[in-house]
Amino acid sequence: MAFFLRLTLLAIGLLVATSIAKPVERRFEDEDDTPLPLVIWHGLGDTFNSEGMARVVSIAEDVHPGIFVYPIRMDDDPSRDRFDSFVGNVTDHVAKACADIAADPILSTAPAIDALGFSQGGQFLRAYVERCNKPPVRSLITFGSQHNGITTFRECAVTDWVCRIAMAALKGDVWSQAVQSKLVPAQYYRNPDEYEQYLEHSNFLADINNERATKNEAYKKNIEKLESFVMYMFEEDKTVIPKESAWFGEVNGTESTPLRARKLYSEDWLGLRALDRKGGLKFRTAPGEHMKLSEELLKEAFAEFYGPLKRSSASRPRPGGGDDL
Ligand SMILES: *[C@@H]1O[C@H](CO)[C@@H](O)[C@H](O)[C@H]1NC(C)=O
Ligand SMILES: *[C@@H]1O[C@H](CO)[C@@H](O)[C@H](O)[C@H]1NC(C)=O
Repeated sequence: MAFFLRLTLLAIGLLVATSIAKPVERRFEDEDDTPLPLVIWHGLGDTFNSEGMARVVSIAEDVHPGIFVYPIRMDDDPSRDRFDSFVGNVTDHVAKACADIAADPILSTAPAIDALGFSQGGQFLRAYVERCNKPPVRSLITFGSQHNGITTFRECAVTDWVCRIAMAALKGDVWSQAVQSKLVPAQYYRNPDEYEQYLEHSNFLADINNERATKNEAYKKNIEKLESFVMYMFEEDKTVIPKESAWFGEVNGTESTPLRARKLYSEDWLGLRALDRKGGLKFRTAPGEHMKLSEELLKEAFAEFYGPLKRSSASRPRPGGGDDL
């Protein structure tokens, strides 16, 4: 969180100013070098217009001048939006994001959009791709997301009443309908020890990961259509347990199974293997604790995977070297 806290209030004014000045009439032409629009879904306890989010928007604007950035929100009231990051039915949240994106005059007329998900916003944007994808996503980048769920719930800060009230719901049974329909993190709780209950009751993750007997072919097709799916794992992540979830890894206490050794991959329930074979699945690491992002890293990622449609990522060398697994 340190990155977000360092940012100045000035940035909020900047965000407001740029959203007012948006050229609504913009059209995408074939030879257009306008950057594809970018949608961003913030994490748990954040808001769509926080200082940190405004900073990320301005970094995207620095890297790709003229880019239209839409921070996804569940409510225009920031405190309500923050509350909704803890409370609500994630199926409804994803449906609202789909509807808002489809109704936006710029996003809905773009040939494709790019997407950036922070923490839980990453698996929610993946659900956008799987369930809606209208307009389609070209590059999806997720930072410290819980693609394979969490086995432990995080602690709330002592003064964070919204978090504490929401997490108090956990005093009930995590698999109950009351908890699954309301507590957001419970909907991506996935403990290998309780796998049968998870398959039966998970309101969100078991579905978008196509883990149930009946597979949703549309989910798989839509993931395969991505040009890039870039998954950043924070090396020192102590907030997301297990941190390997950011790469779809499964950890059951004694053993850690990477995505490529899992059935999810070998039977290709989600299209991840197909995407991997065409070079579109990227396993990246970020140094430090959960969401301690540096501007440098964001700039590199934005330059490599976002920008105009005609600049495909394949034609851009990766700055700084290093490689995917
Ligand atoms: C969440 O919402 C969806 C759609 O509105 C509904 O079908 C589902 O039953 C809800 N989940 C729970 C656990 O109530
Ligand atoms: C973890 O998974 C491995 C492989 O499936 C299994 O052999 C082992 O018993 C599991 N450990 C626990 C603690 O569940």
